[in-house]
Amino acid sequence: VALPPEHPLNDGRTSGSALIRAYRGERPEVTPVWFMRQAGRSLPEYRRLREGVPMLDSCLDPAMASEITLQPVRRHGVDAAILFSDIVIPLRLAGVGVEIVPGRGPVIARPVRTAEDVAALAELTLEPAALEPIAEAVRLTIDELGSTPLIGFAGAPFTLAAYLVEGGPSKDHLAARSMMLGDPETWEALMAWTARITGTFLRAQLIAGASAGQLFDSWAGSLSLDDYTTSAAPASAAALDVVRDLGAPLVHFGVGTGDLLEAMRDAGADVVGVDWRTRLDDASRRLGPTVPVQGNLDSALLAAPAAVIERGVRDVLRRGQAAPAHVFNLGHGVPPETDPDVLTGIVELVHRSGAEPR
Ligand code: CP3
Repeated sequence: VALPPEHPLNDGRTSGSALIRAYRGERPEVTPVWFMRQAGRSLPEYRRLREGVPMLDSCLDPAMASEITLQPVRRHGVDAAILFSDIVIPLRLAGVGVEIVPGRGPVIARPVRTAEDVAALAELTLEPAALEPIAEAVRLTIDELGSTPLIGFAGAPFTLAAYLVEGGPSKDHLAARSMMLGDPETWEALMAWTARITGTFLRAQLIAGASAGQLFDSWAGSLSLDDYTTSAAPASAAALDVVRDLGAPLVHFGVGTGDLLEAMRDAGADVVGVDWRTRLDDASRRLGPTVPVQGNLDSALLAAPAAVIERGVRDVLRRGQAAPAHVFNLGHGVPPETDPDVLTGIVELVHRSGAEPR
């Protein structure tokens, strides 16, 4: 692997872990499990630590980001940590005015709407030195994690561009899709810039010690397959290309992307993350016999009675057997109101169930 010799994938710390083996297409004895948004408001220890600190400030405080990253690993015994950060951090570090408004999400001070706006944005650069707080958070974290791999992540260009153009969360991303369809040249310039800075963010995490990377395309589900293929996937491929030479496994996840799974694979992912709407065995049939899958317990089940949760977990594990390898996860993030003991129970159940023969 083209990472420093002291990197956990190279010095033997994480290369044999269940997560990395599954991401490489093997079937470890136990199905690895982690949860998207496992760090965060479902944990009382997180709420205590974050009190009075704005979200993005907490991401840029290496000691705090590292501690928050480690909390769910200690509590649940998950098979991976995911760096506590946010997809908009590279925007902030490049100089874009962005805040996370609690209960709402990222809000952009001056939305990017015109060719002039995009040209001004494209002047902004993200130097690796600006990512030092992120790299430091990674280093502090892997020192504590030992053989548990840390996953680094970044937002996919479409999801970030949707925030930049809309100025905040939106339902149908109409303004972003209007630019995409009406002014493809401006759109392409926006996507190229976004791919570069989000890829740089992921690269800094991997070089500092993350053992895998995940690209989150939370809003790609608002695109048709044709528009995704023409106007979003090339930039996702460009973002993945920024880190491909490092040799760490790369996961591509989206929400509402049941129609896009093959295109997401073709953008250059090793592993495809599947949301709760698509059965894992159907996803795997479409992705082919060499692509590991990750997912996809419906987050809504986390509030259900224990017997219903158990049935859901077993169903996901059974369908996951159709794939060459499976990493258990939710279909999207942990809701803030989730009882953390429910998550611990799911980790125990997945580990108890083992990897039955195919
Ligand atoms: O998964 C993890 O535990 C790692 C950390 C992580 C966060 N955000 C922390 C966070 C990751 C991987 C993300 C990615 C992210 N951020 C995505 C893609 C994944 C997805 O969920 O679809 C998106 C779309 C964002 C943008 C964003 N940041 C939103 C929509 C929100 C929620 C706003 C709210 O208050 O509901 C955030 C804030 C955020 N990012 C929180 C956390 C733990 C909540 C902050 C808080 O405690 O108030």
